[in-house]
Amino acid sequence: MRNVDMSVTLAGMTMKNPVVVASGTFGFGREYGALYPIDELGGICVKGLTFQRREGNPPPRIAETPMGILNSVGLQNPGVDGFIADELPELKKHDLRIIANISGNTPEEYGIMCEKLSAAGVDMIEVNISCPNVKAGGLQYGVVPEMAAEVTEQAKRHSTVPVMVKLSPNVTDITEIARAVEGAGADAVSLINTLRGMRIDVKTRRPVLHQNTGGLSGPAVLPVAVRMVWEVSNAVRIPVLGMGGIAKGEDAAQMMLAGATAVAVGTACFADPFAPLRVRDGLAAIAAEQGLERVSQLTGQVQPW
Ligand SMILES: Cc1cc2nc3c(=O)[nH]c(=O)nc-3n(C[C@H](O)[C@H](O)[C@H](O)COP(=O)(O)O)c2cc1C
Repeated sequence: MRNVDMSVTLAGMTMKNPVVVASGTFGFGREYGALYPIDELGGICVKGLTFQRREGNPPPRIAETPMGILNSVGLQNPGVDGFIADELPELKKHDLRIIANISGNTPEEYGIMCEKLSAAGVDMIEVNISCPNVKAGGLQYGVVPEMAAEVTEQAKRHSTVPVMVKLSPNVTDITEIARAVEGAGADAVSLINTLRGMRIDVKTRRPVLHQNTGGLSGPAVLPVAVRMVWEVSNAVRIPVLGMGGIAKGEDAAQMMLAGATAVAVGTACFADPFAPLRVRDGLAAIAAEQGLERVSQLTGQVQPW
């Protein structure tokens, strides 16, 4: 079988392959790093960082659903300074791209975090304006185009590395938000974050999550994610990191055909820590079968009816 060039370039950042791990599903790489060299990955989107450290929401905060999970973790993390001091030096020992995922309470907080992370030497900043599980910041910035643009502007002004904005699927028209952040200078967009959902225990009549609602992810959301990646790719000129439900090579190939330059694997890592490597190898096999020299030749090549 032909040897496929798996390298891709996302907003000027080259990666040895297009598979990164999604924020909040791979921690800072320590636990998975005990199973295999994380250098095998194209990159890691680290757990969502906030200005101050956070304990997250009270349990129960994760529950299974048909072909997916519902979570309301609520950005448990050591804070941006804790990450820079304790986690980043470890990650930097590895040969993979480091994408810092951030959530702020105010546009100014996003700016300060971007300044610190740029100076600390991450490769890219992923601006989360789409977390459905926190009260301040998060989702509220992701559903109003003007607010999404304001946060993007702050992030860009205070960053020396590319800024990728993570979009929420919890909107009527995701292309409207994508255009707003592109207009504000975003270098790339990533999508989708989780879809707001709810599960109720019929016996106790209580929601299964302590926060009542949570974010749905996993294979159940793949078709929604592919549709949104397709819509956004056709609406903006900046590149797209596609995610949502990817568990195998074929899923990643769909996402790239829909327009994604690279892909992220999230929930699938919980079921199988090796899922990102399986996705990478499956994608390489599909590209080889189709006679491609480079995996990037898949991007945007869907042939709509
Ligand atoms: C437990 C959990 C925690 C998450 N934490 C974050 C986070 O901190 N920041 C963020 O931008 N997205 C977070 N996400 C969303 C994922 O990065 C991803 O966008 C989403 O789960 C869809 O991909 P998947 O179906 O492959 O998991 C989280 C998802 C899960 C399941």
